[in-house]
Order: sequence, then C-alpha cells, then structure tokens
Amino acid sequence: MVQNQPDGNDPERVQRKGYPGLFIVLEGIDGAGKTTLAERLSQRLHELGQDTLLTFEPTQGRWGKRLRESFTGTRLSPEEELNLFLLDRQEHLDKEIIPALQQGNVVLCDRYYYSTAAYQGAIGLDPDKIMKQNRKIAVRPDIVIFLQIDPEQALKRIIKGRKKANSFEKLDYLQRVAELYERILHEEENSGRNGARIIRIDASLPQEEILSMALKTILCHLNTARHQS
Ligand code: TYD
Repeated sequence: MVQNQPDGNDPERVQRKGYPGLFIVLEGIDGAGKTTLAERLSQRLHELGQDTLLTFEPTQGRWGKRLRESFTGTRLSPEEELNLFLLDRQEHLDKEIIPALQQGNVVLCDRYYYSTAAYQGAIGLDPDKIMKQNRKIAVRPDIVIFLQIDPEQALKRIIKGRKKANSFEKLDYLQRVAELYERILHEEENSGRNGARIIRIDASLPQEEILSMALKTILCHLNTARHQS
C-alpha cells in the first residue's frame, strides 16, 4: 500500500510564472520512437550551445523505482500506481525540472502527465480527472511533441527490437492508449485554456525528418522568446 499522498495544493505551479526556460514534453505510445528523438534533440541542442536537461518519467528516483517493480513483478492497483506517478512527478519537478527551468535551460522530458492520463486511463481510471489532478500539481509544458504511430506498427517495432512485449504493450491496450492520447490532446487544443502548444509528428517518417521538424519547432520558439525578452 502506498501511504504518501501527492500534495495537491499548489495551483500556481501550472502558471509557470517566472521560469525563463523552455519546457518540452515528448509523448507517444510505446514504440513511437520518443526516446531516440529525445536523445538526438538533446545532442543537437547541446551542439548549438543550448543548455539542455534531458530527463524522463517514470524517473530513477524512489517512486519511479517502485513503479518499475510493479510493471515487472506483482502489479499494484491502478490507483496505487497513479499515486506513485504523481509522487514521482512532484519530486521530479522539485528536484530537476523547476531548477533547470529557473536557470533558463531547455528541458526535454520523455513522458509527462499526458502519459498518465492515456495509460492509466486505458486501465480504467478517469483520464479527465487525471488531467485535472495533474494540472493542479504540475508545471504546464510549453510544447508537447506527440509522435503519432499506428499501434500495430508500434507493436511490430517493439517485438522486433526486444522479442517480447511487456504488459504495457499488448495491442488492444496500446490502441486504447492511442485513442486516449488523441482525445486528451484534442481537448487541450480546443479547451480555450492557455494550454501547451501541441506538435504532432508522423512517427513513420525517416528519423532525420522527424528530428529536423522537432528541432525547427524548438528553435523557432527559442528565437521568439529571445525577441520578446
Ligand atoms: P518508459 O520508461 O517510457 O518505457 P520504456 O521502458 O519503453 O522506455 O515508460 C515505462 C512505461 O510506463 C510505459 O509503457 C508507459 C508507462 N507510464 C504510465 O503508464 N504512466 C505514466 O504516467 C508514465 C510517465 C509512464
């Protein structure tokens, strides 16, 4: 049983007040190629002289470790896992993401609260409630890069690379996750709220093309921000 409860009393966080950095989140179903893209983007940004933090969720911290144990061993309940994802995210924000944004870095985060809404939503929790809960406790990203891929193609890539898919990666589950991602991102774009900018990229394109599209978006955002400051 997970005893700690995430503290939901920080509505200011979502406003991102005063952080000079740029917060970019990479999202997509397993097999979409987020991790490769994140690594290559980080490398290119470093080469361009831009201080960049490359990070991911679940983290390697205490809550992230408990989550990974749950994925590979006896599964915790969906509610317990959700609670761990939220605790992990808060610790991640406090220890790594916010300090890096305060220093003006680009933060590239491989998975964030859209993953929680889509993945935990796909195992029966309410995705809208998860988004609401996260908006209260988490910093809103500036940009979400969503790698779009057909779940069957994604599963083929996973099986080819690793021979065996884990429990997160069964086809019907990935299909539900993909549908929820679409719903959540559509809602974020059309809510009229000051949401994140969503960039969809076709993950079946050649890697170089994906990298160049993502990089162009980021550099454009950085240039605009520089001109405004
Ligand atoms: P990840 O480390 O990105 O997968 P991989 O081992 O392939 O690099 O994430 C592990 C799993 O965690 C992934 O299948 C999605 C899941 N996940 C959630 O269910 N909810 C979340 O909030 C996050 C961040 C990840």
